Amino acid sequence: MAHPSVTRFTDLANKISRNTAIITEYLTSKSLPATSFDVDGLAELPIPPEDNVAIQARLDLAAATKELHDLTVGPKQSLHDLSWDLSSLSLRFIWEFNVTACVPLNESISFPDLTARISTENDNRPLGVMNVRRLLRHAMTNRIFCEPTKGYVAHTRSSRLLLEDEPLKNWIGFTTKDLTLPVAHTVDAMKKWPCSEEPNETGVNLAFGHNTPWFQFLPSDPVRSKRYNLAMQAHGETAGYDMKDVVDGYPWGDLPENAKVVDVGGNQGYISFAIAERFPKLRFVVQDQASMRTPETIGVVPEELQARVELTMHDFFEPQTELGAAVYFFRMIFHGFSDKHCVKILRALAPAMRKGGKVVINDGALPEPGTATYLEERACRTLDLFMQVVVNAREREADDWTDIFSEADRRYRVNRVWRPKGNVMSFIEAEWTGE
Ligand SMILES: C[S@@+](CC[C@H](N)C(=O)[O-])C[C@H]1O[C@@H](n2cnc3c(N)ncnc32)[C@H](O)[C@@H]1O
Repeated sequence: MAHPSVTRFTDLANKISRNTAIITEYLTSKSLPATSFDVDGLAELPIPPEDNVAIQARLDLAAATKELHDLTVGPKQSLHDLSWDLSSLSLRFIWEFNVTACVPLNESISFPDLTARISTENDNRPLGVMNVRRLLRHAMTNRIFCEPTKGYVAHTRSSRLLLEDEPLKNWIGFTTKDLTLPVAHTVDAMKKWPCSEEPNETGVNLAFGHNTPWFQFLPSDPVRSKRYNLAMQAHGETAGYDMKDVVDGYPWGDLPENAKVVDVGGNQGYISFAIAERFPKLRFVVQDQASMRTPETIGVVPEELQARVELTMHDFFEPQTELGAAVYFFRMIFHGFSDKHCVKILRALAPAMRKGGKVVINDGALPEPGTATYLEERACRTLDLFMQVVVNAREREADDWTDIFSEADRRYRVNRVWRPKGNVMSFIEAEWTGE
């Protein structure tokens, strides 16, 4: 009789087979292609969020293939490789030197010719063929570029994405250039500032040797600031952060005619644009800090929304200036602050609240350990670490929200906390019970 550990291999293989069948039948029945690393391939499985069975099969397949892979490699080598993954180095090189623009889209190029092109693209900075070759051959282990003939480089769908998808390209720039050093300094920051709730006692502060909080440091360099904004857009487009869930996940349609929604810390308004497009009777004020509203940084409201969406400046630690709105909407804001600072934000908002007014938060909510699928769990846990690295903040569990609201002001009442299926973001709705 097989040992239970051996049976686990078989169980996983069966699970993989079952879920692959669900997905292939789904695609075949709709005459759709699957994802592919071929240069003209599909970058995402074409399964809309409402097709629950196929979506769940994708999540289960990702979890089972990952576990089977890890078991096949074994705990010893898995652990060794985990700390030895230098993918951010080859990625950073590709991003920094704009390598994707130097490889022709539908033909291959030799390493020496490519090296010359990269050099020209980068102010004739000398680059050795050997270094280009080893960095790209490493990237190829992640299916970024391929070598169809020995010595010749060609695009894959992944490298082409880095050429064509501006937000994703900025995401790679942000994570490999701006985040790598802070990550490396975070444990040292924990030693230097034990249990800190301050946004200027982090890996970022140690890495870059300043004591400015991330969100103030960021705009001091407009190039980095733009990169961050586009990176956040790319992050918002990944599985589990579907913008559709922001639009569909809250009953915006139940708000009264002409109701005002204040999108606090709404960046350049892309979430409000999506909600406004679907709900034409709502008005939006998108607030962000002054540095996001300079002539260089301010976004553009699509023409058809200009009568209903306004981009304005407001510091959410200052008393709220838009009084009596139907909804104060905070998306991906509170997870950027420790509890102590979240309480300050809610206190600054309180004087603007009117009876029945709502605070709607769309933010990460950590699942109970082991209740989410692998991809969801991993995304939440990584985001939680990211918040620690940059601002000593955190993702929260459902109960944490009630504590924060009641600490801020007893007149806030949390109505409910819910998470749209397949999403890593939850909604938290609180209501003002005072006058
Ligand atoms: C993680 S982004 C979220 C943006 C947007 N709500 C979304 O869901 O994509 C955080 C936003 O908060 C803004 N922010 C940070 N500190 C702020 C402050 N004190 N007052 C207003 N906005 C602030 C940042 O500029 C940034 O646009």
